[in-house]
Amino acid sequence: MTGATREHWDDVYRTKAADSVSWYQPTPGPSLRALDELHLPATTSLIDVGGGASNLVDRLVERGWSDLTVLDIAAPALEVAKARLQNDAGRVAWVVADVTAWQPDRHYDVWHDRAVFHFLTEPEQRLAYRRAREIGTAPGSFVIIATFAPDGPERCSGLPVQRYDAAALAAEFSPAFTLQRDWREDHATPAGGRQSFQWCVFRRR
Ligand SMILES: C[S@@+](CC[C@H](N)C(=O)[O-])C[C@H]1O[C@@H](n2cnc3c(N)ncnc32)[C@H](O)[C@@H]1O
Repeated sequence: MTGATREHWDDVYRTKAADSVSWYQPTPGPSLRALDELHLPATTSLIDVGGGASNLVDRLVERGWSDLTVLDIAAPALEVAKARLQNDAGRVAWVVADVTAWQPDRHYDVWHDRAVFHFLTEPEQRLAYRRAREIGTAPGSFVIIATFAPDGPERCSGLPVQRYDAAALAAEFSPAFTLQRDWREDHATPAGGRQSFQWCVFRRR
């Protein structure tokens, strides 16, 4: 990743309202449903990789989850989320980092990534992400990931993306992770468009 990537994302969050970007969801429904199906306790540790200003963290704080981390390359994105959470922001660990250059110092039970991995269009970027993911998880950890599907957009936020079906994502996550469940989502953007997402839940062997 280059400094241009950070500048791009800083600029997005400085100039656009968090609820106007194409990836905005009033409720992070697919993520919450995926977590519900895993029947995890509130003590489960979760990192939202490239979480941006997503309100997934708000919903999990409300549910009493006590070990939450949000990582993003763009500090302004995390500032939006922190301001929204007010006093509860102190119950979350906030990390400003490029995931492809990040060295986790602990394991997480759940690694959540909605619409971040698909920006890694170069093999060496995906290798760096794999390294971080494998350091940041342990046997039994789950990964919940969403990327644009093969019939989804070719670009997001003006940047090219790599689109995946479940088999292609499973190949990226093998051999350490096994695919548990996959589904497609037709995401409605705030501007009235539709975006086809591929979701997968993996478990580390
Ligand atoms: C399409 S947005 C999705 C945000 C959030 N996951 C959601 O669902 O609302 C992509 C996010 O990934 C972040 N991002 C992009 N490249 C990144 C990288 N290399 N490391 C960490 N975060 C990154 C961006 O700043 C942005 O917040």
